[in-house]
Amino acid sequence: MRKYVLDLTLKSNERLREGYFLLKLTDGNPLPPMEPGQFAELKVDGSETTFLRRPISINYVDEQQNEVWFLVHEVGDGTRRLGTLVAGDRLNVVLPLGHGFTMPSSASERYLLVGGGVGTAPLLYMGKRMAEAGCRPTFLLGGRSAGDLMQLDMFRALGDVCITTEDGSAGERGFVTHHSVLSAASFDRIAVCGPKPMMKAVAAYARSKGTECEVSLENMMACGVGACLCCVEKTTEGHVCVCKEGPVFNINRLLWQ
Ligand SMILES: Cc1cc2nc3c(=O)[nH]c(=O)nc-3n(C[C@H](O)[C@H](O)[C@H](O)COP(=O)(O)OP(=O)(O)OC[C@H]3O[C@@H](n4cnc5c(N)ncnc54)[C@H](O)[C@@H]3O)c2cc1C
Ligand code: FES
Repeated sequence: MRKYVLDLTLKSNERLREGYFLLKLTDGNPLPPMEPGQFAELKVDGSETTFLRRPISINYVDEQQNEVWFLVHEVGDGTRRLGTLVAGDRLNVVLPLGHGFTMPSSASERYLLVGGGVGTAPLLYMGKRMAEAGCRPTFLLGGRSAGDLMQLDMFRALGDVCITTEDGSAGERGFVTHHSVLSAASFDRIAVCGPKPMMKAVAAYARSKGTECEVSLENMMACGVGACLCCVEKTTEGHVCVCKEGPVFNINRLLWQ
């Protein structure tokens, strides 16, 4: 897919909770096509320590409003700086990058989308595209506590939502892999994005059921286009650049136990 370098205009920067914000960006021209699971490289201006762009998943695309959304967790200088942007500011982005999730082959495919923490971000756009294709996915969303779960109203409009929290403040207590839906229902395909231990646990569940499963890796990235080799992952086909070959991989390509 063709990549674009765009100076987008910030329509809003909404603080969803402490440490998390949602950027909604637009352009004078129609935004390019983007696939769920793809990401963008955001340029961070005005930070002395942040020379490289930061990779952020495409959270949602609103074609009617000509908007692309990014859900960001503040973890360091780059993301903190992005959090200070205000409506009207310009943000230079490269997008769309990488390969996204496999879309369902038919409307009847039972698709489970599993997200942990800010890893829920790309699943919202995946849910939207699935709804447009006539599919109703099951979302299994996990967090430490109720406050970690964001954009729930939008997820509920697109599919069935199951929740786990580690402290039991919302949904079922425990990790996503403890949720009763995993024993009560069966799925044809699973897509996962979140912390690596969570993705490995879901991958193990998928293997035990013989279910197709894709995970979105968040290896450290710099260039985002396969040039610097800083994001390599050892796979069944040797070392590959996650930014170019992924970030979404079928678990059968990974050397995970
Ligand atoms: C394909 C992809 C999609 C991503 N999507 C999102 C998203 O939608 N929303 C979001 O908030 N974040 C996302 N991330 C993670 C995000 O890129 C990093 O959190 C960000 O680059 C950190 O930049 P910083 O300058 O704030 O922190 P830094 O000062 O660079 O680092 C602060 C801390 O964050 C850790 N860190 C840095 N990069 C990563 C990374 N890639 N993965 C895990 N930990 C990291 C560092 O080890 C360090 O401990 C994604 C990463 C990838 C590779
Ligand atoms: S980030 Fe440079 S090769 Fe992947």
